[in-house]
Amino acid sequence: MAAELHMENLPRSLELIYRDDHACLRYLDQRLLPGELLVAETEQWREVVDIIKTLAVRGAPAIGIAGAAAIALWVENEAVIVNDDDFEEALGLVAKEVSEARPTAVNLKWAVDKTVEYVLSLLEDGYPLEQMGSKVCLYVQELTAEDERINRAIGEHGADLIPEDARILTHCNAGSLATSFYGTALGVVYTAASQGKVQHVYADETRPVGQGARLTVWELAQAGVPVTLNCDNMAATLMAQGKVDCVIVGADRIAANGDTANKIGTYGLAVLAKHHGIPFYVAAPLSTFDFSLATGECIPIEQRAAEEVLPQPIAGVEVFNPAFDVTPAELIAAIITEKGVFKPSELGKLQ
Ligand code: MRU
Repeated sequence: MAAELHMENLPRSLELIYRDDHACLRYLDQRLLPGELLVAETEQWREVVDIIKTLAVRGAPAIGIAGAAAIALWVENEAVIVNDDDFEEALGLVAKEVSEARPTAVNLKWAVDKTVEYVLSLLEDGYPLEQMGSKVCLYVQELTAEDERINRAIGEHGADLIPEDARILTHCNAGSLATSFYGTALGVVYTAASQGKVQHVYADETRPVGQGARLTVWELAQAGVPVTLNCDNMAATLMAQGKVDCVIVGADRIAANGDTANKIGTYGLAVLAKHHGIPFYVAAPLSTFDFSLATGECIPIEQRAAEEVLPQPIAGVEVFNPAFDVTPAELIAAIITEKGVFKPSELGKLQ
Protein backbone atom coordinates (compact mmCIF):
# COMPACT_ATOMS: atom_id res chain seq x y z
CA MET A 1 0.00 0.00 0.00
CA ALA A 2 1.31 3.47 -0.88
CA ALA A 3 2.41 5.55 2.12
CA GLU A 4 0.50 8.69 3.04
CA LEU A 5 2.50 11.66 1.81
CA HIS A 6 2.91 14.90 3.73
CA MET A 7 4.19 17.22 1.05
CA GLU A 8 3.11 20.19 3.20
CA ASN A 9 6.12 19.35 5.43
CA LEU A 10 8.64 19.63 2.63
CA PRO A 11 11.30 22.16 3.72
CA ARG A 12 12.00 25.40 1.88
CA SER A 13 15.75 25.91 1.73
CA LEU A 14 16.02 29.64 0.99
CA GLU A 15 14.20 32.73 -0.20
CA LEU A 16 15.08 36.33 -0.77
CA ILE A 17 12.74 38.57 1.20
CA TYR A 18 12.03 42.24 0.53
CA ARG A 19 10.19 44.01 3.31
CA ASP A 20 10.13 47.51 4.77
CA ASP A 21 12.55 48.66 2.07
CA HIS A 22 15.08 46.03 3.09
CA ALA A 23 16.28 42.87 1.41
CA CYS A 24 17.48 39.79 3.27
CA LEU A 25 18.21 36.19 2.42
CA ARG A 26 16.33 33.75 4.65
CA TYR A 27 17.81 30.25 4.68
CA LEU A 28 17.56 26.98 6.51
CA ASP A 29 21.00 26.33 7.99
CA GLN A 30 21.72 22.83 6.67
CA ARG A 31 24.88 22.52 8.79
CA LEU A 32 22.65 21.97 11.81
CA LEU A 33 20.18 19.49 10.33
CA PRO A 34 18.61 17.23 11.34
CA GLY A 35 19.20 18.12 15.02
CA GLU A 36 18.24 21.77 14.83
CA LEU A 37 15.85 23.54 12.50
CA LEU A 38 17.35 27.02 12.37
CA VAL A 39 16.03 29.54 9.86
CA ALA A 40 18.59 32.35 9.68
CA GLU A 41 18.60 35.69 7.86
CA THR A 42 21.37 37.81 6.41
CA GLU A 43 21.55 41.15 4.62
CA GLN A 44 25.27 40.80 3.86
CA TRP A 45 26.44 39.51 0.49
CA ARG A 46 29.79 38.39 1.96
CA GLU A 47 27.95 36.30 4.51
CA VAL A 48 26.12 34.62 1.62
CA VAL A 49 29.52 33.67 0.16
CA ASP A 50 30.41 32.19 3.53
CA ILE A 51 27.21 30.15 3.89
CA ILE A 52 27.75 28.76 0.38
CA LYS A 53 31.36 27.77 1.17
CA THR A 54 30.47 26.18 4.52
CA LEU A 55 27.46 24.26 3.12
CA ALA A 56 24.79 26.01 5.19
CA VAL A 57 23.15 26.35 1.77
CA ARG A 58 24.19 23.63 -0.67
CA GLY A 59 23.02 21.74 -3.75
CA ALA A 60 23.60 23.14 -7.25
CA PRO A 61 20.28 24.98 -7.88
CA ALA A 62 20.11 26.31 -4.29
CA ILE A 63 23.60 27.83 -4.43
CA GLY A 64 22.62 29.39 -7.76
CA ILE A 65 19.71 31.18 -6.08
CA ALA A 66 21.92 32.13 -3.12
CA GLY A 67 24.52 33.58 -5.51
CA ALA A 68 21.88 35.62 -7.33
CA ALA A 69 20.62 36.82 -3.93
CA ALA A 70 24.16 37.89 -2.98
CA ILE A 71 24.24 40.19 -6.03
CA ALA A 72 20.82 41.61 -5.11
CA LEU A 73 22.00 42.26 -1.53
CA TRP A 74 25.09 44.06 -2.81
CA VAL A 75 22.99 46.25 -5.12
CA GLU A 76 20.55 46.99 -2.30
CA ASN A 77 23.06 47.70 0.49
CA GLU A 78 26.40 48.68 -0.99
CA ALA A 79 26.05 49.85 -4.58
CA VAL A 80 24.88 53.33 -3.53
CA ILE A 81 28.22 54.07 -1.86
CA VAL A 82 30.13 53.21 -5.03
CA ASN A 83 31.00 56.02 -7.41
CA ASP A 84 28.84 55.82 -10.57
CA ASP A 85 31.96 55.46 -12.74
CA ASP A 86 33.22 52.53 -10.66
CA PHE A 87 29.88 50.70 -10.48
CA GLU A 88 30.44 48.19 -13.26
CA GLU A 89 33.93 47.26 -12.10
CA ALA A 90 32.78 46.89 -8.47
CA LEU A 91 29.84 44.71 -9.55
CA GLY A 92 32.21 42.55 -11.60
CA LEU A 93 34.49 41.99 -8.60
CA VAL A 94 31.56 41.02 -6.37
CA ALA A 95 30.20 38.67 -9.03
CA LYS A 96 33.59 37.00 -9.37
CA GLU A 97 33.92 36.41 -5.64
CA VAL A 98 30.39 34.99 -5.41
CA SER A 99 30.78 32.77 -8.51
CA GLU A 100 34.02 31.31 -7.21
CA ALA A 101 32.60 30.35 -3.81
CA ARG A 102 32.23 26.80 -5.11
CA PRO A 103 33.71 25.79 -8.47
CA THR A 104 31.93 22.62 -9.64
CA ALA A 105 28.20 23.44 -9.75
CA VAL A 106 27.78 25.57 -12.87
CA ASN A 107 24.36 26.76 -11.66
CA LEU A 108 26.15 29.22 -9.35
CA LYS A 109 27.93 31.08 -12.15
CA TRP A 110 24.85 30.76 -14.39
CA ALA A 111 22.57 32.48 -11.87
CA VAL A 112 25.13 35.14 -10.90
CA ASP A 113 25.79 35.98 -14.58
CA LYS A 114 22.06 36.24 -15.30
CA THR A 115 21.54 38.60 -12.36
CA VAL A 116 24.54 40.76 -13.28
CA GLU A 117 23.23 40.99 -16.85
CA TYR A 118 19.87 42.15 -15.49
CA VAL A 119 21.52 44.81 -13.28
CA LEU A 120 23.53 46.09 -16.26
CA SER A 121 20.39 46.26 -18.40
CA LEU A 122 18.71 48.42 -15.72
CA LEU A 123 21.76 50.65 -15.66
CA GLU A 124 21.71 51.00 -19.42
CA ASP A 125 18.03 51.97 -19.27
CA GLY A 126 19.01 54.78 -16.88
CA TYR A 127 17.28 53.23 -13.86
CA PRO A 128 18.28 55.16 -10.67
CA LEU A 129 20.68 53.23 -8.45
CA GLU A 130 18.73 54.03 -5.28
CA GLN A 131 15.68 52.18 -6.61
CA MET A 132 17.49 49.30 -8.22
CA GLY A 133 17.61 47.05 -5.13
CA SER A 134 13.89 46.25 -5.06
CA LYS A 135 13.86 45.55 -8.83
CA VAL A 136 16.80 43.14 -8.59
CA CYS A 137 15.18 41.41 -5.60
CA LEU A 138 12.04 40.86 -7.66
CA TYR A 139 14.20 39.39 -10.40
CA VAL A 140 15.81 36.93 -7.97
CA GLN A 141 12.39 36.01 -6.56
CA GLU A 142 11.29 35.18 -10.10
CA LEU A 143 14.41 32.99 -10.62
CA THR A 144 13.47 31.21 -7.38
CA ALA A 145 9.89 30.58 -8.47
CA GLU A 146 11.10 29.43 -11.89
CA ASP A 147 13.45 26.92 -10.24
CA GLU A 148 10.49 25.36 -8.42
CA ARG A 149 8.46 25.19 -11.65
CA ILE A 150 11.41 23.50 -13.39
CA ASN A 151 11.77 20.93 -10.59
CA ARG A 152 8.07 20.06 -10.79
CA ALA A 153 8.44 19.56 -14.57
CA ILE A 154 11.49 17.32 -13.98
CA GLY A 155 9.37 15.38 -11.50
CA GLU A 156 6.59 14.87 -14.06
CA HIS A 157 8.95 13.71 -16.82
CA GLY A 158 10.99 11.49 -14.51
CA ALA A 159 7.99 9.81 -12.89
CA ASP A 160 7.19 8.21 -16.27
CA LEU A 161 10.41 6.19 -15.93
CA ILE A 162 9.53 4.81 -12.50
CA PRO A 163 7.94 1.36 -12.42
CA GLU A 164 5.11 0.34 -10.06
CA ASP A 165 6.25 -0.54 -6.51
CA ALA A 166 9.64 0.98 -7.21
CA ARG A 167 12.57 0.68 -4.86
CA ILE A 168 14.81 3.64 -5.63
CA LEU A 169 18.37 4.29 -4.48
CA THR A 170 19.70 7.85 -4.29
CA HIS A 171 22.99 9.50 -3.34
CA CYS A 172 23.69 12.85 -1.66
CA ASN A 173 20.72 15.22 -1.39
CA ALA A 174 19.10 16.39 -4.60
CA GLY A 175 15.89 17.30 -2.86
CA SER A 176 13.95 20.34 -1.78
CA LEU A 177 16.90 21.32 0.40
CA ALA A 178 19.22 21.40 -2.62
CA THR A 179 16.94 23.61 -4.73
CA SER A 180 14.55 26.50 -4.13
CA PHE A 181 11.85 23.86 -3.48
CA TYR A 182 10.80 20.29 -4.39
CA GLY A 183 14.13 18.95 -5.71
CA THR A 184 15.42 17.30 -8.86
CA ALA A 185 16.18 13.60 -8.17
CA LEU A 186 13.86 13.70 -5.15
CA GLY A 187 11.38 15.73 -7.21
CA VAL A 188 11.05 12.62 -9.39
CA VAL A 189 10.57 10.55 -6.22
CA TYR A 190 7.86 12.92 -4.90
CA THR A 191 5.92 12.94 -8.16
CA ALA A 192 6.18 9.15 -8.56
CA ALA A 193 5.20 8.73 -4.89
CA SER A 194 2.15 10.94 -5.39
CA GLN A 195 1.19 8.56 -8.22
CA GLY A 196 1.47 5.68 -5.73
CA LYS A 197 4.47 4.13 -7.46
CA VAL A 198 7.20 4.36 -4.80
CA GLN A 199 7.51 1.42 -2.44
CA HIS A 200 10.76 2.50 -0.84
CA VAL A 201 13.79 4.78 -1.09
CA TYR A 202 17.31 3.79 -0.04
CA ALA A 203 19.52 6.78 0.77
CA ASP A 204 23.30 6.49 0.66
CA GLU A 205 24.86 8.07 3.72
CA THR A 206 27.20 10.06 1.40
CA ARG A 207 30.56 10.25 3.09
CA PRO A 208 32.27 12.43 4.14
CA VAL A 209 29.76 15.23 4.81
CA GLY A 210 26.69 13.01 5.21
CA GLN A 211 24.15 14.78 2.95
CA GLY A 212 22.26 11.48 2.70
CA ALA A 213 22.43 10.63 6.39
CA ARG A 214 21.62 14.12 7.68
CA LEU A 215 19.49 15.65 4.93
CA THR A 216 17.91 13.18 2.48
CA VAL A 217 16.51 10.77 5.05
CA TRP A 218 15.18 13.68 7.12
CA GLU A 219 13.60 15.38 4.10
CA LEU A 220 11.98 12.15 2.84
CA ALA A 221 10.69 11.32 6.32
CA GLN A 222 9.21 14.84 6.58
CA ALA A 223 7.35 14.22 3.31
CA GLY A 224 6.18 10.76 4.41
CA VAL A 225 8.20 8.77 1.84
CA PRO A 226 9.38 5.41 3.29
CA VAL A 227 13.16 5.56 3.51
CA THR A 228 16.07 3.43 4.72
CA LEU A 229 19.52 4.82 5.34
CA ASN A 230 22.49 2.74 4.18
CA CYS A 231 26.23 3.37 4.37
CA ASP A 232 27.75 4.02 0.93
CA ASN A 233 29.54 0.67 0.97
CA MET A 234 26.23 -1.18 1.41
CA ALA A 235 24.76 -0.14 -1.94
CA ALA A 236 26.37 -3.12 -3.71
CA THR A 237 24.74 -5.53 -1.25
CA LEU A 238 21.32 -3.91 -1.70
CA MET A 239 21.67 -4.30 -5.46
CA ALA A 240 22.95 -7.89 -5.22
CA GLN A 241 19.92 -8.71 -3.03
CA GLY A 242 17.61 -7.42 -5.76
CA LYS A 243 16.31 -4.55 -3.61
CA VAL A 244 16.97 -1.70 -6.08
CA ASP A 245 14.91 -1.10 -9.25
CA CYS A 246 16.61 2.12 -10.29
CA VAL A 247 19.11 4.73 -9.13
CA ILE A 248 18.35 8.48 -9.40
CA VAL A 249 20.85 11.21 -8.57
CA GLY A 250 21.20 14.94 -9.19
CA ALA A 251 24.07 16.73 -10.95
CA ASP A 252 26.39 19.68 -10.46
CA ARG A 253 27.60 20.02 -14.04
CA ILE A 254 26.88 18.04 -17.20
CA ALA A 255 29.31 18.27 -20.14
CA ALA A 256 28.16 18.32 -23.79
CA ASN A 257 28.69 14.54 -24.14
CA GLY A 258 26.62 13.75 -21.02
CA ASP A 259 29.52 13.09 -18.62
CA THR A 260 28.12 14.20 -15.27
CA ALA A 261 29.78 15.65 -12.18
CA ASN A 262 27.89 14.94 -8.96
CA LYS A 263 28.67 14.23 -5.31
CA ILE A 264 31.71 12.02 -4.72
CA GLY A 265 30.62 8.39 -4.80
CA THR A 266 28.16 8.81 -7.67
CA TYR A 267 30.59 7.31 -10.19
CA GLY A 268 31.06 4.17 -8.10
CA LEU A 269 27.31 3.81 -7.75
CA ALA A 270 26.88 4.04 -11.54
CA VAL A 271 29.47 1.28 -12.03
CA LEU A 272 27.60 -0.89 -9.52
CA ALA A 273 24.28 -0.20 -11.23
CA LYS A 274 25.75 -1.19 -14.61
CA HIS A 275 27.11 -4.44 -13.16
CA HIS A 276 23.67 -5.33 -11.74
CA GLY A 277 21.71 -4.25 -14.83
CA ILE A 278 19.91 -1.46 -12.93
CA PRO A 279 19.03 1.78 -14.80
CA PHE A 280 21.00 4.80 -13.59
CA TYR A 281 19.21 8.16 -14.04
CA VAL A 282 20.43 11.74 -13.60
CA ALA A 283 17.86 14.49 -12.93
CA ALA A 284 18.93 18.10 -13.55
CA PRO A 285 17.69 21.44 -14.90
CA LEU A 286 19.14 22.92 -18.11
CA SER A 287 21.08 25.41 -15.94
CA THR A 288 23.29 22.46 -14.88
CA PHE A 289 24.46 21.80 -18.45
CA ASP A 290 27.75 23.27 -19.60
CA PHE A 291 27.85 22.82 -23.37
CA SER A 292 31.13 24.74 -23.51
CA LEU A 293 32.85 21.64 -22.10
CA ALA A 294 33.17 18.73 -24.53
CA THR A 295 33.66 16.06 -21.86
CA GLY A 296 33.66 15.59 -18.10
CA GLU A 297 37.46 15.73 -18.01
CA CYS A 298 37.23 19.53 -18.28
CA ILE A 299 34.89 19.93 -15.26
CA PRO A 300 36.66 21.65 -12.33
CA ILE A 301 36.40 19.48 -9.22
CA GLU A 302 36.26 21.16 -5.83
CA GLN A 303 38.78 19.84 -3.31
CA ARG A 304 37.63 20.29 0.27
CA ALA A 305 39.33 20.45 3.66
CA ALA A 306 41.02 17.37 5.11
CA GLU A 307 39.05 17.75 8.38
CA GLU A 308 35.85 16.64 6.64
CA VAL A 309 37.41 13.19 6.26
CA LEU A 310 39.80 13.13 9.22
CA PRO A 311 38.59 15.42 12.04
CA GLN A 312 41.65 14.63 14.20
CA PRO A 313 44.76 15.07 12.03
CA ILE A 314 47.34 12.28 12.25
CA ALA A 315 50.97 13.27 11.67
CA GLY A 316 52.25 11.92 8.36
CA VAL A 317 48.77 11.17 6.97
CA GLU A 318 47.50 13.01 3.91
CA VAL A 319 43.82 13.15 2.97
CA PHE A 320 42.20 12.87 -0.47
CA ASN A 321 38.89 14.78 -0.45
CA PRO A 322 37.41 15.71 -3.84
CA ALA A 323 33.80 16.81 -3.28
CA PHE A 324 32.61 15.48 -6.66
CA ASP A 325 33.40 12.83 -9.23
CA VAL A 326 32.50 12.44 -12.89
CA THR A 327 30.24 9.64 -14.10
CA PRO A 328 30.96 8.77 -17.74
CA ALA A 329 27.95 9.21 -20.05
CA GLU A 330 28.03 5.54 -21.04
CA LEU A 331 26.90 4.56 -17.52
CA ILE A 332 23.87 6.89 -17.60
CA ALA A 333 20.61 5.44 -18.95
CA ALA A 334 18.91 8.85 -19.25
CA ILE A 335 19.07 12.46 -18.11
CA ILE A 336 15.78 13.90 -16.88
CA THR A 337 15.32 17.63 -17.54
CA GLU A 338 12.42 20.10 -17.52
CA LYS A 339 12.29 19.67 -21.32
CA GLY A 340 11.92 15.89 -21.18
CA VAL A 341 14.07 12.77 -20.88
CA PHE A 342 17.19 12.41 -23.02
CA LYS A 343 19.83 9.75 -23.54
CA PRO A 344 23.31 11.27 -23.19
CA SER A 345 23.77 10.78 -26.95
CA GLU A 346 20.70 12.99 -27.60
CA LEU A 347 21.89 16.08 -25.68
CA GLY A 348 22.64 17.90 -28.93
CA LYS A 349 18.87 18.53 -29.17
CA LEU A 350 19.10 20.77 -26.09
CA GLN A 351 21.83 23.08 -27.37
O1 MRU B 1 28.36 19.47 -1.86
P1 MRU B 1 26.88 19.56 -2.11
O2 MRU B 1 26.06 19.05 -0.95
O3 MRU B 1 26.46 20.92 -2.56
O4 MRU B 1 26.63 18.57 -3.33
C1 MRU B 1 25.34 18.47 -3.84
C2 MRU B 1 25.20 17.45 -4.91
O5 MRU B 1 26.15 16.83 -5.33
C3 MRU B 1 23.83 17.31 -5.51
O6 MRU B 1 23.60 16.00 -5.91
C4 MRU B 1 23.72 18.24 -6.74
O7 MRU B 1 24.13 19.53 -6.40
C5 MRU B 1 22.34 18.27 -7.28
S1 MRU B 1 21.23 19.12 -6.21
C6 MRU B 1 19.70 19.16 -6.96
